Amino acid sequence: MTAGELLRRFTEVFGNDVEPMDRRLFFAPGRVNLIGEHTDYNGGHVLPCALTLGTYALAAPRRDGLCRFYSTSLPEDGVVEFPLSSPWEPEPNGWSRYPRGVLSVLHGRGKKPLTGLDILFHGTIPAGAGLSSSASIEVATGFAFLAVSGLDVDLVELAKMSREAENDRVGVKCGIMDQFAAAASIRGRAILLNCDSLEYRHCELSLPGSRLVITNSNKPHALASSGYNERFRECGAALSALKRRLQITALCQIDEAALNENADLIDDDLLLRRARFVVGENQRALRAAERLEKGDLSGFGALMNESHVSMRDDFEISCRELDVLVELAWSIDGVHGSRMTGGGFGGCSISLVKQDAVEEFKAKVGEGYMASIGYPPTFYLPETSDGVSEIKMVNPGAGLFGQAAKMSKGE
Ligand code: GLA
Repeated sequence: MTAGELLRRFTEVFGNDVEPMDRRLFFAPGRVNLIGEHTDYNGGHVLPCALTLGTYALAAPRRDGLCRFYSTSLPEDGVVEFPLSSPWEPEPNGWSRYPRGVLSVLHGRGKKPLTGLDILFHGTIPAGAGLSSSASIEVATGFAFLAVSGLDVDLVELAKMSREAENDRVGVKCGIMDQFAAAASIRGRAILLNCDSLEYRHCELSLPGSRLVITNSNKPHALASSGYNERFRECGAALSALKRRLQITALCQIDEAALNENADLIDDDLLLRRARFVVGENQRALRAAERLEKGDLSGFGALMNESHVSMRDDFEISCRELDVLVELAWSIDGVHGSRMTGGGFGGCSISLVKQDAVEEFKAKVGEGYMASIGYPPTFYLPETSDGVSEIKMVNPGAGLFGQAAKMSKGE
């Protein structure tokens, strides 16, 4: 897809009464998390990086107080139209809950005067892959409304509002990682975010002689209907038990030693295992960022492997498909480390693989997965991206990825 094709589609869908100069293109990336899973809503650390896969939003202002949204992925849903003044009456379960949720949060914050928009959304993240298509559409929407309305964009506020939309409108109790990565990432770097204080630093992702490989199990992961909210509740219950003695407000405020000393407070073995994973994972994310910055890729990979084992055994968010992918990856010499990534129960694994072993990786993991599971996985060799930005349509004939890459080089 090129920007020119998106512009043509826009005209087909919304008509041609929009001044061409008024149409502006925005992009918000998806993300892959390198380590630090389910730590975000427990006040811990995460280490994601943004991808060139994401959501494009081609937007034009309207003067009549209406908004119209359209998704190229779901043309059968047609145009969703509603008044700017009452953004939140979406179809239950429809895709427009995400952008309408963000708009309603913006509205509630008194971010006025907002301009009504026609938006054509074009997503490039495979459905159900767990690479944060929802965060990318949320952040793209918020950015488009603020930018076209001539309002300042504070990226941290944008991430917070997008998370609020997902928590309170869509109903997924997610943390802030995905929205933060979509908003504030830098190309070529991962972002080490303290989800308690929202302090962050960008860590160089140079990976000499190696590269990241994302493998999609093609088992769709669905946050709202999965055990995600159940894990959220279990972590809350473990925290409540610990609070009987400890002055803490989030599980990740303690380390493994403190958890061991106070383990008697949690009399349920399942909750103790949940807490052990979260507390350990937070420490691993911190150590992993240090190793990454020192160029210690095998040390980094060892932490990825530990993370997977604890997600599988203690937190129980893996599944057969992901375990097969990860175990096949572990059996290959040129693999520094491999783990499932994201919310769990399906979606993708992330592996750190020596460059010269990538072909072997694809062949062995592909064949082994097919033999065990009965259908093939999909491999992506991801390129990293900046967080949300406007894409200048200087050359509408160029491919969209190319344009995003151009922007991120500051050209
Ligand atoms: C999903 C959520 C995030 C985070 C991850 C697990 O992607 O949206 O907030 O909790 O799962 O790390």
